[in-house]
Amino acid sequence: MNPEPHSDLLLSVKNLKVHFQGVGPVAKAVNGVDFKVRRRQTVCIVGESGCGKTVTALAILGLLKQPPAVIAGGEIFFDGLSLFDLPASQMRNLRGKRIAMVFQEPMTSLNPVFTIGDQVGEAVLVHEEVSDDQARRRTIQLLYDVGIVEPEKRLNDYPHQLSGGQRQRVMIAMALACEPDLIIADEPTTALDVTVQAQILRLLKRLKQDKEMAIQYITHDLGVVAAIADHVYVMYAGVVVEQGSADAIFSKARHPYTMALLDSLPTKEKRGQRLYSIPGSVPHPAYRPLGCPFHPRCRYCEPSCEKAFPDFFDYGKGHEARCPVLYKSGVGEKDR
Ligand SMILES: Nc1ncnc2c1ncn2[C@@H]1O[C@H](COP(=O)(O)OP(=O)(O)O)[C@@H](O)[C@H]1O
Ligand SMILES: [Mg+2]
Repeated sequence: MNPEPHSDLLLSVKNLKVHFQGVGPVAKAVNGVDFKVRRRQTVCIVGESGCGKTVTALAILGLLKQPPAVIAGGEIFFDGLSLFDLPASQMRNLRGKRIAMVFQEPMTSLNPVFTIGDQVGEAVLVHEEVSDDQARRRTIQLLYDVGIVEPEKRLNDYPHQLSGGQRQRVMIAMALACEPDLIIADEPTTALDVTVQAQILRLLKRLKQDKEMAIQYITHDLGVVAAIADHVYVMYAGVVVEQGSADAIFSKARHPYTMALLDSLPTKEKRGQRLYSIPGSVPHPAYRPLGCPFHPRCRYCEPSCEKAFPDFFDYGKGHEARCPVLYKSGVGEKDR
């Protein structure tokens, strides 16, 4: 059932489970994930590499290769449509017209043998029936919108003639061509240096306002989250462990994993100090520990954490975290 008909709710992911079955035990890459994206909202999904962020995005987009992937449970609603019940043709249509995506490495998403003008123009033509001349003008406008200088001169460039940042701008122009309600951006700035990254983040923020889109932004970097997010979901080992407004996550995190990510974030105050790094690594999805999946790396771990993985504890205003130890002890209660 559509959870909130006629509301500002755009995307709703409910108890999503994606497994990979190879030889050996099942890898529960996404193990019961819930989140929501509202219209015109920027929602960040943050977590270390291997937490299931990309698999979640691919499930929403209907781009998971099945097999090896299996949708083992859950529902996804986009503007009231149940995506798992949608025929493939309608899903393709939705992907081209209402949900757009921007991935990490534009070099693999742009076709090296076609010019920038051809590729953005193609995206325009998929969206609307216009003459070649109109498509060209719209292409130039889109390239201008994403900050490509003198776009009419760049139409005949090939992807390899552009810098990494410019290529990512072209990818964003292609995503905008369909005037989407939602852009899913999966680590779009990870391969870029910090200055260019900051420019792209500013661009996305501006575009979100101008075009009234929602953005689901996936990253391993809380620094990026700080720059762009309205609402944050912290993912660890295939589950969401904490969610809240960007303000709540940065000022009063209540899950040890979120706190550890914050501690490993470089800040001005920590300049010159050795940065904290979380001990250990994300467990492979086929070999997760029992109980809370973070407990082997957690500085607050208690014996009960090895037995059961608790549900969310509510901190008000949509902020909730799955750690009973901090909930009971009040650690983290005072603003950090
Ligand atoms: N095609 C696949 N076959 C088997 N395991 C996969 C496949 N794709 C992803 N996984 C596993 O699913 C887990 C989550 O991956 P992913 O969503 O890419 O993580 P993230 O994007 O958070 O870094 C990882 O452990 C990864 O190895
Ligand atoms: Mg990923």
